[in-house]
Amino acid sequence: MHYDARKNNHGLPHDPYKAIVAPRPIGWIGSQNLNGVRNLAPYSYFNGVSDKPHYVMFSSVGIKDSLKNIEETGVFTASLATHKLFEQMNISSVTADTKIDEFKLSGLKVRNAKYVDAPCVADSPAVLECELWKVIDLPHSNRKDNTGSYIAIGHVIGIYIDDDFITDGLFDIRKAKPLGRLGYMDYGIINSENIFSKNRPELDEEGKVKDTLEWDGLYK
Ligand SMILES: Cc1cc2nc3c(=O)[nH]c(=O)nc-3n(C[C@H](O)[C@H](O)[C@H](O)COP(=O)(O)O)c2cc1C
Repeated sequence: MHYDARKNNHGLPHDPYKAIVAPRPIGWIGSQNLNGVRNLAPYSYFNGVSDKPHYVMFSSVGIKDSLKNIEETGVFTASLATHKLFEQMNISSVTADTKIDEFKLSGLKVRNAKYVDAPCVADSPAVLECELWKVIDLPHSNRKDNTGSYIAIGHVIGIYIDDDFITDGLFDIRKAKPLGRLGYMDYGIINSENIFSKNRPELDEEGKVKDTLEWDGLYK
């Protein structure tokens, strides 16, 4: 099949788009409004967009509480959503009134971030603490009737890592078991069985691609 994505006339029972752009990391976005009401919600249109400096983005389909809060306060956190925290992550995605604190609703321990004034998931093995840089209203978005999608881009100014998740100086993703969002209602779990390591190749003097040494990491 080959279809016009603008018309989205795939003819399938469910839109395959998100199953193709997969797996996606889940940014579990913590924020609060100016009255101090906390908010937590998962966003899988989430990713790191730059390494030096560290910037991350998430995309809100319509203007939701997270984006509203972040535009008010200028800060947010992104806690790592892990297999162990799956049920709480899922509960925190409910469509709830602005006054509802999803940390409480999902029975999660909350703590304040260190570098920004925003809440995060206390039991998450890693948290990115971010200052909002910019919100981009994607083409065809209209804030008046709340259509379209809005990308919030944040500068990561603090990073928390639970020391129990550092092995031989590396963040131990085998222990953390982060969730990946796939298409439909599906998820994947990163675990040691399906992680492998390889260095980038180099060109030798004749311009031929040569393998470099194996990375001597955690997953031998
Ligand atoms: C795993 C997962 C990923 C999600 N990703 C997104 C996303 O990228 N963008 C979005 O607008 N909603 C996403 N949602 C839905 C939001 O979490 C949901 O609308 C939530 O109620 C928003 O909360 P808020 O209004 O407190 O920000 C996702 C839900 C789940 C369970």
